[in-house]
Amino acid sequence: PKAECCVTGKHLQNQIRNLQGQLKSLQDIINKKHKGKTAKDFINGSQISEKLFAANGSAGDYKTSKATCSRAGGHLASPRTSSENGAIQQIIQRYNKAAYLDINDMETEGIFKYQSMEVIGYVNWAPGEPNDTGGGEDCVEMYTDGRWNDRSCEEERLIICEF
Ligand code: IPD
Ligand code: CA
Ligand code: CA
Repeated sequence: PKAECCVTGKHLQNQIRNLQGQLKSLQDIINKKHKGKTAKDFINGSQISEKLFAANGSAGDYKTSKATCSRAGGHLASPRTSSENGAIQQIIQRYNKAAYLDINDMETEGIFKYQSMEVIGYVNWAPGEPNDTGGGEDCVEMYTDGRWNDRSCEEERLIICEF
């Protein structure tokens, strides 16, 4: 006689699918907790859609800003839509201090890319920018009016991270 319960390939596949679903739920919970914890190390955050932008008033040049955000488990802010741009601008206005974005044209002059090396889609340049003043402006700052300016990477700017 046939065994009452047989472990068929289909049965196993279903079990794996269920476990994968449960694992994903657990991962989502852990990721949320991690985001909350790193974000709490900062104050004055601004959330838009799934992204959380945060600053704590500290400042640094481009390299320091990137390293600071990376240590906190995030990235330097890089807006991909006008609403993300607006969320970052709110923080800049609160501190009344421009901030670097995670965008640069270090690799090829005039071709601005995200840290992922993908060419940028959304832009919000100030009139006349980018102008690569003095041939040495490969980083991008956001002014208090939300507009962008290409700028030397060596200035001191408000650090705004995204998580
Ligand atoms: C410059 C101006 C210019 C901009 C440059 C800046 P600075 O400031 O604001 O419009 O395109 O990126 O360096 O050097 O004259 O204080
Ligand atoms: Ca440049
Ligand atoms: Ca410029």
